[in-house]
Amino acid sequence: MVADFSVAEPVLADAEALSAMAQASFCDTFAYRNYPADDLAGFLATAMGPERYAAQIADPAYGLRIVRNLSNEIIGFIKMGPNDLPLVDGDQNDAVRELHQLYLLPAAKGTGMADFLMNWGVEWARAEGARSLYLSVYFENIRAQKFYARHGFVEIGKNPFWVGQTCDDDRVWRRPL
Ligand SMILES: CC(C)(COP(=O)(O)OP(=O)(O)OC[C@H]1O[C@@H](n2cnc3c(N)ncnc32)[C@H](O)[C@@H]1OP(=O)(O)O)[C@@H](O)C(=O)NCCC(=O)NCCS
Repeated sequence: MVADFSVAEPVLADAEALSAMAQASFCDTFAYRNYPADDLAGFLATAMGPERYAAQIADPAYGLRIVRNLSNEIIGFIKMGPNDLPLVDGDQNDAVRELHQLYLLPAAKGTGMADFLMNWGVEWARAEGARSLYLSVYFENIRAQKFYARHGFVEIGKNPFWVGQTCDDDRVWRRPL
């Protein structure tokens, strides 16, 4: 990873800034989808709202790491946790963990930060005793898919993903651990 960044486990006081950064990255990545404004606002407020992050920061079933720049701004994070995605191939949920979110701000892309966070997430899942790691990715998110493929994930199924009234064609990807 490039120099001049610091990695930390978020605390409750980080929930607001983490939510703001996650929402900024989501909006930047999916601006072209032109979700109806009410749908997008509702989605961001619930799925990426500060209360959600605060609850997961406080929940030992989740594992998070944030990356800050020299100005102490959060520019990337990973959120690991219990699996909520459909299982395949005889996987048992207690031996599966999910990579729920891996988001960087545009300036942090292509720096190796995502690799650092992914490697941390894989070790977190292994330490939890997981034998498989699942994630969900939008079928048009080619940059993310290339990144996940490089880290050993393959597509195994579909995961309809609702942003308000819009159903996105997300795909489930899996990597053995
Ligand atoms: C997905 C993400 C974490 C990947 O991190 P990254 O630092 O951008 O990853 P990399 O720079 O290593 O790029 C990954 C691959 O995409 C390729 N790529 C770069 N720019 C691209 C573009 N505009 N379109 C398609 N592929 C692109 C890279 O060449 C690389 O390919 P390779 O692995 O075959 O060499 C990061 O892009 C991100 O946070 N995106 C916004 C949020 C998001 O989509 N999160 C994932 C949701 S499921």
